[in-house]
Amino acid sequence: MRLKSACAGPGTNTCFGRSDYSVCAGAAGCTNGLCQRNPLSSSVFPWAERTDRNVLYCIRLFVENHSGVPAAVFTVPFTVPVETRRMPSSTPQQLVDSLAAKIADRTAKVGIIGLGYVGLPLISAFVNAGFRCIGFDVDAGKVQTLLQGRSYIRHIASETVAGWISKSQLDPTSDMSRLGEADALLICVPTPLNESRDPDLQYIESTAASIAKVLRPGQLVVLESTTYPTTTRDVMVPILNGNPAGLQCGRDFFAAFSPEREDPGNPHFTAAGIPKVVGGTDQASGDLAAALYGHAIVSVVRVDNAEVAEACKILENTYRAVNIALVNELKMLFDRMGIDIWQVVDAAKTKPFGFQAFYPGPGLGGHCIPIDPFYLSWLARRQGMSTRFIELAGEVNTFMPRYVVSRVGDFLNDVSRSVKGSRICILGMAYKKDVDDPRESPSFELMELLMHRGAVLSYSDPHVPSLPPMRHYHLPPMNSTPLTPEFLAEQDCVLISTDHSAFDYPFIVRHSRLVVDTRNATKAVTEGREKIRRA
Ligand SMILES: NC(=O)c1ccc[n+]([C@@H]2O[C@H](COP(=O)([O-])OP(=O)(O)OC[C@H]3O[C@@H](n4cnc5c(N)ncnc54)[C@H](O)[C@@H]3O)[C@@H](O)[C@H]2O)c1
Repeated sequence: MRLKSACAGPGTNTCFGRSDYSVCAGAAGCTNGLCQRNPLSSSVFPWAERTDRNVLYCIRLFVENHSGVPAAVFTVPFTVPVETRRMPSSTPQQLVDSLAAKIADRTAKVGIIGLGYVGLPLISAFVNAGFRCIGFDVDAGKVQTLLQGRSYIRHIASETVAGWISKSQLDPTSDMSRLGEADALLICVPTPLNESRDPDLQYIESTAASIAKVLRPGQLVVLESTTYPTTTRDVMVPILNGNPAGLQCGRDFFAAFSPEREDPGNPHFTAAGIPKVVGGTDQASGDLAAALYGHAIVSVVRVDNAEVAEACKILENTYRAVNIALVNELKMLFDRMGIDIWQVVDAAKTKPFGFQAFYPGPGLGGHCIPIDPFYLSWLARRQGMSTRFIELAGEVNTFMPRYVVSRVGDFLNDVSRSVKGSRICILGMAYKKDVDDPRESPSFELMELLMHRGAVLSYSDPHVPSLPPMRHYHLPPMNSTPLTPEFLAEQDCVLISTDHSAFDYPFIVRHSRLVVDTRNATKAVTEGREKIRRA
């Protein structure tokens, strides 16, 4: 008696839906394993079952006597850990070539994870470049809105979204098990600070964990969320490398960082029109990411590695935070001296070199400038260093709402009023001009400070119809008030916090008693200037 042959597998013609593993898990038609070499077994289908950690197989042993007559068939169950079972059979170069080819002919499916202020414009860039996109978001409400052909972001029209859906250019879903369908995955999830103002990477981590579950060979994963240098390599990649199939970055899949530079509300730049910095965790990853963005974005700035790309984004935002702090501090000094800071900046910017204009305001807002520099401070602390410019800029900028409120108190005092009991209407709750995004807006801080001082508050913002719940502020529910002559005349003070173009400033000044302007929005108003104060 001798053992003739053995076959493991459930009778599928691929190895668990994959043809790229060298260990056989199939029978009929399987191109990888034992069954092809063993005609006897191709019609015999033992069982196999997969758990998270193991694949349970049943192997059949075919035994024949010395004359070649089948004598016995034994069925032996055994367990193989998933990690050891899966061995990629494509070489790294084959995987690179295959993805590069799909990118080149635009058949690569682009998965965009996080369909917010960054993700949606990015979809627009890729759809316009001829790619099909799958949009992933944990917020089922957003997915439903998109599926109904509606947009929830001001600068992306609903008609545009409806067009993507009807032409199957965008496939929005909350089903993270579909992450494996995309050839490239671009991560645009939030990166906030936690209560102690340290980086909160939970969204990046949970996204990476979702990808790891379904990661397949040849996929490219690009992190776009703003974060501190080393996040891609030291946080994202290890989670992806923990995938159950044992795929490894740089060999079986690819990873890169490319910071988003979206400037919502800026009519001169769309996501596609802003040069894109790209750095890979290795050469092939960087090449693939650069090739992909090269189709959709006006130009790609290739840097040596992911860390340079990460640091580049933080430098850009820190540069803004520090320069805004500088003009905010000068504003407080020049206010005291009766010098108009806005005229000073406008005069300085006529210098054709060496000066870039930044303007003061009521404080920093948005998801980037008030947050990202602190990612770097945190990293510096871990390196035993401090980032004094960042800390100082943070101190000046976070003080600005208090400065504005104290100025409002002074101006009311001038007309024999106190903040307590005064009717104050804040104009603009969005964090900046002509956007509907209220995140980190200093208007909320102004509102809370004035509320604690007993002001009777209202607000008007054509882009924020009602106050959204905010993590750090506890304000009563409020709706935007239309600006009528009667309403304006009733206010003791109208406080311009965000200089939306939709506001009719001459009208506002004409009908108000006192206008406190933190943005120089009323600079062109000629009638009633005696009612305007700067803060
Ligand atoms: N908004 C900007 O102007 C801007 C500009 C440059 C860079 N960034 C950076 O881009 C990133 C995204 O910012 P945003 O403004 O688009 O945020 P956003 O809050 O508008 O959108 C993020 C989306 O991600 C979704 N999400 C969260 N966790 C998820 C998960 N695990 N899987 C799938 N989806 C998930 C959320 O539901 C949300 O829809 C941040 O790191 C931000 O710093 C933003």
